[in-house]
Amino acid sequence: MPAITASAPGKIILFGEHAVVYGRPAIAVPVNQVKARAVAMANPHQPSGEVLIQAPDIGFESRLSELPGDHSLAFAVTSVLTELEILRPPAFTLRVTSTIPIAAGLGSGAAVSVAIIRAVSSFLCRPLANEQVSGLAYEVEKHYHGSPSGIDNTVITYNMPVYFVRGRPVETFQVANPFTIVIGDTGIKSPTAIAVGDLRKLWQADPDPYEILFDKTGQIADDARRLIEGGRPDKLGPLMFENQLLLQEMGVSSPELDYLVKVALEAGALGAKLSGGGRGGNMIALVEPEQASSVAKALARGGATRTIITKVGG
Ligand code: PMV
Repeated sequence: MPAITASAPGKIILFGEHAVVYGRPAIAVPVNQVKARAVAMANPHQPSGEVLIQAPDIGFESRLSELPGDHSLAFAVTSVLTELEILRPPAFTLRVTSTIPIAAGLGSGAAVSVAIIRAVSSFLCRPLANEQVSGLAYEVEKHYHGSPSGIDNTVITYNMPVYFVRGRPVETFQVANPFTIVIGDTGIKSPTAIAVGDLRKLWQADPDPYEILFDKTGQIADDARRLIEGGRPDKLGPLMFENQLLLQEMGVSSPELDYLVKVALEAGALGAKLSGGGRGGNMIALVEPEQASSVAKALARGGATRTIITKVGG
């Protein structure tokens, strides 16, 4: 059995995070500068059924049989075996690596799951279709986030810009004119589940004002899609800023994110906002291509621990 390598990109949410959990539309795009990778290779000297999982980036190695069922890597592997109804796979080693920062809003967890699901299913000669890959990755996400919208597993599986509405079939769309985004990392780890859970408590205590914020956010995502499809991404800046103000009102921004947004705008970005769960993690800035490196440098001077320049579309 030949070794199989599968990889999956990171992602950013351009518009609509958090409101998307409550059924409003959001727009997300893949970020191929960072990747999760999984390699499945035969282990002919081990008895069948033996699966060794290695994650050298975090110094992790364990047999699948020795891991608790709810361990994130184990859960992803087991979900594939269950889906394929394989009780005792031929012995294999699964090596997982990733350049996507963890708990930073770039979809690291979903990308690792997608890479594992693809590598394991292909290694077992039963490659899964995108819909199944995304569905299984969603099950893993659910295990860890409680109530994820499904946007991360969708954009990462399809590796295309998506207009996402919870519970609806995947909708990809055309980027008529490519545009450039600078991503800046606050360096603050912020598990999505905490920001999502805190917002849920606020919404439960007093739903009406939050429903209004979610409606406005959904409207922004719709307007943004029209501009992107219409070839006017240069007009997205004010929508990003409005979305950021709504995210602040939801309580999911942070002083560090707000500061990097301000730095990006002062350095000439057309718009900027947090991306993903918030509270920490990454922010994004829309820039003219020729300003990308000066905005990235300004973000680094302003405290960003890492910057990525990425092109959407094209
Ligand atoms: O922080 P990330 O990359 O997991 O993005 C989360 C996006 C949210 O809308 C906040 C949550 C969700 O499940 O959609």
